[in-house]
Parts: sequence; C-alpha cells; structure tokens
Amino acid sequence: MLAIVLVGGFGTRLRPLTNHVPKQMLPICGLPMIEWVALQLAKHGVSEMGLALGYRPDAFLNAYPGGTIAGLPYRVAVEPEVLGTAGAIRFALEELDVDETVVALNGDVLTDLDITALVTFHQRQKAEGTIALQSVNDPSRFGVVTTDKNGRVAEFVEKPPKGTEPSNLINAGAYVLEPEIINRIPAGQQVSVEREIFPHMAREGSLYAVDSSTYWLDTGTPEQYIEANLDVMRGLRDFVPELPTNIVDPSAQIEESFLGEGTEVGANARIKGSVLLSGCKISNNAKIKNSVLAEEVQIGDSAEIDGCVIGRGEVIEPGSEFAWIKRPN
Ligand code: GDD
Ligand code: MG
Repeated sequence: MLAIVLVGGFGTRLRPLTNHVPKQMLPICGLPMIEWVALQLAKHGVSEMGLALGYRPDAFLNAYPGGTIAGLPYRVAVEPEVLGTAGAIRFALEELDVDETVVALNGDVLTDLDITALVTFHQRQKAEGTIALQSVNDPSRFGVVTTDKNGRVAEFVEKPPKGTEPSNLINAGAYVLEPEIINRIPAGQQVSVEREIFPHMAREGSLYAVDSSTYWLDTGTPEQYIEANLDVMRGLRDFVPELPTNIVDPSAQIEESFLGEGTEVGANARIKGSVLLSGCKISNNAKIKNSVLAEEVQIGDSAEIDGCVIGRGEVIEPGSEFAWIKRPN
C-alpha cells in the first residue's frame, strides 16, 4: 500500500529553523521527522511513500538520493501551484498513478498510531474514507469530529471558535481513502480536505473514524518541537535513536534537554527544557532555557537565553540576554 504524505506547508511558525529546510527535515533527537514517519509507516506494511509537496522537493531528493527514506521507497509529487490539502491528495493520486486504497498523512504529526487497525476498520465498514481521531484538551486548534456509535462521522468542523467545539475528539491527520475520493475534488484549484471534502462526506454519511488515543503530537510550533524531542528522551516513543556524542563539562547542569552531535558545553553552564542541534558551542556560565538552537550556534560566556529560537550559525555575545517574554523576577 502507498502512503501519501503531505509535506507542502511552509512551516512558518518554526522560523528561522525552517528558513532553509522544510519542517519535515528538522531532526527529532537527531533523526529527521520524515524518517520517523517512514519508520512508522513501514511498521504497518506500507510499501512506498508519495511525498506531496510544491516547495523544496530538492531538500528531500538531495538528502535521500537513493530513492528510500529510512529504508522505505519514496517518490515525489510536486504541485505546480498551491493546491491545499485535498488538491494535493488529488494531484498525488494522479501523478503517482494510484488506483487502490491509500493511506494519507499530515507529515508534521509524530505518532505511534496503529495504521493496521485503521485500515482493517476501513475495509470492514467498506468506507470511502476513514480518519484517525485523538482526544485532546483544547480541540479548537484542530479539525473537531463527532461520530455515532458505529464510528460514522456525524460532524466534521475545522478549527471551530473556542467554546463551540462539538467534542474533544480531533482529526489526527491520518486517513485511509479509496481512490474514488478523487471525484469529489475539483482539479487545478485550491481545495481543503478539512474545510470542504470531509464536512461534505460527513453530511452524506460516507466518512468513518476510529478513536486511536496513542502517542500523538503535531509539531508545528517551537514548544511542540521541543516536546517532540523530549518525549523521545522520556521513553514515550516506540523507537529511540542512538544518542549523539558531545563534550559536556562535569560542572554543567543539563536538565530535560537534547544536545545534538558534537555540542560542547562549558563549565557551570545550565541548559533546561531545550533542544540544541549539532555542533553548538555553549560557553562557561551560559544559561539556556525553553529554547531551540539550530546547528553551529555559539553562545558566549554568561549569556542568558529564555524561550528563543536561534537560527543556524548565530553567535550570541558574552553576557547578552535574550528572552521571548521577559518576566520580572
Ligand atoms: N502538499 C501539500 N500542499 N501539503 C500541504 C498543503 C498543500 O497545499 N497545505 C498544507 N500541507 C501539509 C502541511 O505540510 C502539513 O504536513 C499538513 O498538510 C497539515 O497542514 P498544517 O498547516 O500543519 O495544518 P494544521 O496543523 O493547522 O491542521 C491540520 O492538522 C491537524 C492535526 O495536526 C488539519 O488536518 C486538522 O484537521 C488536524 O486536526
Ligand atoms: Mg500541523
């Protein structure tokens, strides 16, 4: 079975990390996000990925010139213009010549979802589309779903205003679809699967859903990106990549943080709730909290960084203070 992975967003909320690479190429504990997705798909018998994108296909083609990502064969479907999530699915189905049941995924979601169970349920119901659901505390930022007792979707509403959400169950961004869905999606224009196609299928009764409640995280913001890394270190994921080697002074305090390959940390430095990509140099007495440092960032002696995202190769002067929201002590 093929999985269409939507990787065409601009990753604006993760700038400057995404100034040069798409969101799905950012590493989570050293392993690019797309490799986490590929490993998960392969575990459930998916045999090929179709990357649906319109922007920066070279980032994937250059990083994986052998035609596989974490061992899983892939092809790309490059949209000539922005087509939206449904337009992208239609374009990929055509471009990759798919005429059987497919999996479709939001490529910015990290999950241990049981895709096998989702496919089995879909086939048993003879559904046209089946979506995975996840229960969350604040559903208003997502697609919100209600179902009847047989798992038929009664209502699908994308990002409803806070307080008006019909349930706590959200669209987890993983679908099983019949190729006939293509007939619902007008060609050559921007169409949203969440705002147009799914609400319509729900009204018709041809959309089903399964509540999965497993490890699940959308990684679109810096806070979620940090969370994704720390969750791996906390052992919340099925897979743990090899930890990188770095040089940390014994007097430094590292708490709930991920340090990338080749990072150096000086005496009495303190790092908490942060992710440092490879090759960062942290000088003596520096303090880094709730922040993301891209590759090769240098932090000067006694500098303090709180709640910041610092782009590749930046040099922070000794003694400087950077805080997203500076609170009085
Ligand atoms: N190829 C392609 N083309 N991909 C796209 C396009 C497009 O035009 N637009 C968005 N994408 C990709 C993004 O790269 C991302 O992987 C995925 O589609 C979802 O887009 P986001 O921009 O991240 O949407 P969201 O997080 O606000 O909401 C979506 O995900 C939630 C779960 O995380 C929706 O599907 C919600 O209903 C869902 O609850
Ligand atoms: Mg998202």
